[in-house]
Amino acid sequence: MQRVGIVGLGYVGLPLAVAFAEEGLEVIAVDVDHAKLASIAAGESYIEDVSSKRLGSVSERITATPRYAKLTKADAIVVCVPTPLTANREPDLGVLRDAGVAIAGVLQEDQLIVLESTTYPGTTRERLVPLLEESGMRAGHDFHVAYSPERVDPGRTDFTMRTTPKVVGGLTPACGDRAEELYAHVCDDVVRVSSPDVAELTKLLENIFRSVNIALVNELTLLCDRMGIDIWEVVDAAATKPYGFMRFDPGPGMGGHCLPVDPFYLSWRAREFDMATEFIELAGKINQDMPYKCVERVERALNDQAKAVRGARVAILGISYKPDVADTRQSPALKIIALLKRMGAEVAYHDPYVPELQSHLLRSAPYPELLEGADLVVILTAHSAVDHRLAVECGSAILDLRGVTRHMRAGTAARQ
Ligand SMILES: NC(=O)c1ccc[n+]([C@@H]2O[C@H](COP(=O)([O-])OP(=O)(O)OC[C@H]3O[C@@H](n4cnc5c(N)ncnc54)[C@H](O)[C@@H]3O)[C@@H](O)[C@H]2O)c1
Repeated sequence: MQRVGIVGLGYVGLPLAVAFAEEGLEVIAVDVDHAKLASIAAGESYIEDVSSKRLGSVSERITATPRYAKLTKADAIVVCVPTPLTANREPDLGVLRDAGVAIAGVLQEDQLIVLESTTYPGTTRERLVPLLEESGMRAGHDFHVAYSPERVDPGRTDFTMRTTPKVVGGLTPACGDRAEELYAHVCDDVVRVSSPDVAELTKLLENIFRSVNIALVNELTLLCDRMGIDIWEVVDAAATKPYGFMRFDPGPGMGGHCLPVDPFYLSWRAREFDMATEFIELAGKINQDMPYKCVERVERALNDQAKAVRGARVAILGISYKPDVADTRQSPALKIIALLKRMGAEVAYHDPYVPELQSHLLRSAPYPELLEGADLVVILTAHSAVDHRLAVECGSAILDLRGVTRHMRAGTAARQ
């Protein structure tokens, strides 16, 4: 295996392209976004997990191009395009279809095509393969097909692509062999499963597991708030159990590109089999409702000071969907800010990773200056670069939805 094509150079595709290039493979990087292509060519990374230094050191092995025709020279093509939901929360495979049609037009005998985009079980076999077979060649005979889910966790440094086992399901055993050979370049442990369908559902199980557990701890947070119990003290105590418990922390809701989206791919698919996936729906409902519950807590925290939301100066810390990343996709902060502005609050925020929030016409304010004159400081995402002690010491009321200041506030009310 000498040349790999990557289609879709986003959070998943760019780290993969760099990893292959670092192992000495030639990479043909295809994307429709010309700004990204120009950045790759200039060795300037736009993804936090890939430094420009890393990208720059391999950029002569990466050809960034909008032309699918360049993929004719690749031994394998890995597809990492978006798989969002439609407005009606149904799978939107439009981009995958476009990519599949374009690849079919340049497909070569003996090439391996691997889908990495998260999707429902059956997509590779029922949706991608027929598109590729429009080339006149047969999958599993003239070319190879596999599915391998991406497990990238943006911002995580303790597990890398090399040390995170990679699940691979081939359309045939030979397809699986080829995919295993491909990923062995960048991964120490390739886990073979019997089909693309199994690999597709494996990824969804992983994400649904997180979604359900986040919903559970968020629901308990609401209950604890009513009961006057500190949820973080409960979670800390439960996490001392050495087996049978996995820690999930409360927060203002669920964000990112994956968890609010992927589970609904499965619930949609399940309907074809006369199944209602109730855990998925319930977790989605609870997590979606969290921003509204957070706004209620803002109202209460202001009310405790005899203040209304209208006209109140609310200083928000952290708006990306999780700590130490810049990604604001589906971040609960977006909904919370929109709701507070609609109620007449004067909202300002500080986030070292998000200089501006165009959708809300806001720019990140300097910190700690943001705290001056705030009626309420709301911690939505706790970035490690932000000194939250300054917020505790500024004297304004704090609504800490991440529990980062509770030990700093010993002797003061830890909950709102
Ligand atoms: N971001 C994550 O942490 C993560 C983790 C695991 C799985 N996934 C899954 O991986 C897939 C990609 O996610 P992402 O976060 O990298 O998305 P992304 O939006 O960051 O990147 C997708 C890229 O595809 C490009 N693209 C769009 N249409 C195209 C086309 N027709 N041809 C070529 N390129 C095209 C876009 O310009 C973009 O650069 C999704 O299915 C997602 O669910 C993402």
